[in-house]
Amino acid sequence: MTRPDDHTAVAGVRHARGGTPVEYVGESDHGEGTVNQAAHDYYAALQRDYDTMIRQLVPRYDEMVECAVGLLAHSAPLSVLDIGTGTGTVTKRIASRVPDAHITGVDASPAMVQDATDRLAGVAERVTVLHCDIEDFAPDHTFDAGFSNLVLHNVPTTTKTDLLRNLSSWLHPRAVLVWGDLIRFDAPELQQSAVSARCAFALAAGCDPAFVEENFRKESADDHPLSVDAMRVMALAGGFASADVVWARDGFVVLYLRNGGTSP
Ligand SMILES: C[S@@+](CC[C@H](N)C(=O)[O-])C[C@H]1O[C@@H](n2cnc3c(N)ncnc32)[C@H](O)[C@@H]1O
Repeated sequence: MTRPDDHTAVAGVRHARGGTPVEYVGESDHGEGTVNQAAHDYYAALQRDYDTMIRQLVPRYDEMVECAVGLLAHSAPLSVLDIGTGTGTVTKRIASRVPDAHITGVDASPAMVQDATDRLAGVAERVTVLHCDIEDFAPDHTFDAGFSNLVLHNVPTTTKTDLLRNLSSWLHPRAVLVWGDLIRFDAPELQQSAVSARCAFALAAGCDPAFVEENFRKESADDHPLSVDAMRVMALAGGFASADVVWARDGFVVLYLRNGGTSP
C-alpha cells in the first residue's frame, strides 16, 4: 500500500492540506475535455439541493450507495481514490465506514469541490479533495481501492477504456474498484421504457419539471452510459481481472472490479 503521508506528493495536482479548494489542473478547462460548460452548469444546479434531487432522479439512490460503500468497506483499504466526490456526502460515509483509510476525492465541478470541502472539514486530516477532471488526474502513488458512483457515464465511450486502463494502473494490483453508474439498455424499447419510468418517478417525487427536462436532455445528448455487458467488457479490456454485477435496479448498476494491474 502506498499511503500519501504528504498530500502534496500527488504529481501534477495543485492542492493544499486540509481539503482546501484547489485550482483547476491539467490542460483542459471548462470548455474542453470531458466536462463541458453544460455539464458544469448542470452539476452546479444539482449541487444546490443535491441530497433531495439525487433521490428524485435515482429511485433507489440510498440502496445503491449502501451497496457500493459496503463493498468498498469489505476490502478494508488504507487508501481510496473517490472519483466524482460531488458534495462529499458519500465520501463522508466512506470515511466513516473505512476509518483507517486516507481518501483522495477528485471532482471536476468547482461548486461540488467547495461543498465537499466544507462538508468534509471534520475529517480533513484524512480526506483530500482535488479540483480536477479525472481524465487529467496524474497520481504518483497507487491506491488500495477505487470508488466511483454516478460519474463515469460523463466520460465519452471513446476515452473510457483509456481511463479504465489508467485506473487499473493507479490501483494496487490486488485492489478493487467499485463502479456504480447509470446504464443504457441496448434494446430501444427497453431504454425508452426505463427513461420514461425514471422521468415519471422524478416528477412524482417533486423534482422541478424544468430540471427533470434538463436532466434527461443531458442524459440523451451529453452522457455516455453503457450497457452492463459493455461496462464489463470495457473493464476487462482496461486491465481488470473480473467485473461482477452486485446490484442492478431501475437503470443503475454497481459493479465490483478486481484489479489485474501490474503496478507495484
Ligand atoms: C451525480 S454526482 C455523484 C456524486 C457522488 N459520487 C454520489 O454518489 O452521490 C457526479 C459528480 O461527478 C463529477 N464529475 C463528472 N464528470 C467528471 C470527471 N470527468 N472528472 C471528475 N469529476 C467528474 C461531477 O462534477 C459531480 O460532482
